[in-house]
Amino acid sequence: MTDNASFWDKVATRYARSPVRNEAAYAETLARTRAYLKPSDRVLEIGCGTGTTALKLAGSVESLLATDVSGKMIGIATAKLADGAAGNVSFRQAEIGADTFDGGSFDAVLAFNLLHLIGDTAGAVRSVRDQLKPGGLFISKTVCLSEAGPLLRPLFRLLIPVMRFFGKAPFVRFLKISELETLIGVEGFEIVETGNYPAKPPSRFIVARKV
Ligand SMILES: C[S@@+](CC[C@H](N)C(=O)[O-])C[C@H]1O[C@@H](n2cnc3c(N)ncnc32)[C@H](O)[C@@H]1O
Repeated sequence: MTDNASFWDKVATRYARSPVRNEAAYAETLARTRAYLKPSDRVLEIGCGTGTTALKLAGSVESLLATDVSGKMIGIATAKLADGAAGNVSFRQAEIGADTFDGGSFDAVLAFNLLHLIGDTAGAVRSVRDQLKPGGLFISKTVCLSEAGPLLRPLFRLLIPVMRFFGKAPFVRFLKISELETLIGVEGFEIVETGNYPAKPPSRFIVARKV
């Protein structure tokens, strides 16, 4: 198992118990995402964590396959299916880019709170592109810590490596919004909507169409 997967396994139970940090920003993210989803859509979510968002969006689509590198996260997510609700959702343990799921050709791929945690962001975006049909949508939200305020940014830059050394934080990439959007464009997408939910530090919501 990779260090990355074992970190997320270790924190999965605590992550499942922790409340959504900003309810208003989360509600806005869900609403803007639903605005792009259609009842006929086959959707893939990557880095789905404990499946909360997948289950909330399931009613808006035909099917939703949600994946995560952490077996523990997927275990918690799968347990939520026990009552038979959301029969169109399935969960699978998988690392980004490791596989083409169910033949690819998804109408949309979702990645919330994920891209800043990946060393090879460009590779991750490229693998998302491979999973999409032409014209398919990549809907993501990514915290851009390079644009945190003048007090928070140096604090994060100091604390995260120290916490990581002690196994208390994952790999975190300090992204700029412009850098992220350029990268998505370079990998073959046209950006159709952006927003910051929340604004500080900016969690960049991006809807991009495969061209
Ligand atoms: C901050 S959590 C976000 C979970 C969920 N998307 C949310 O918004 O609550 C990041 C998730 O990404 C997963 N993850 C990290 N690196 C990954 C990778 N390389 N491939 C797939 N999943 C990954 C972690 O296991 C974790 O569940």
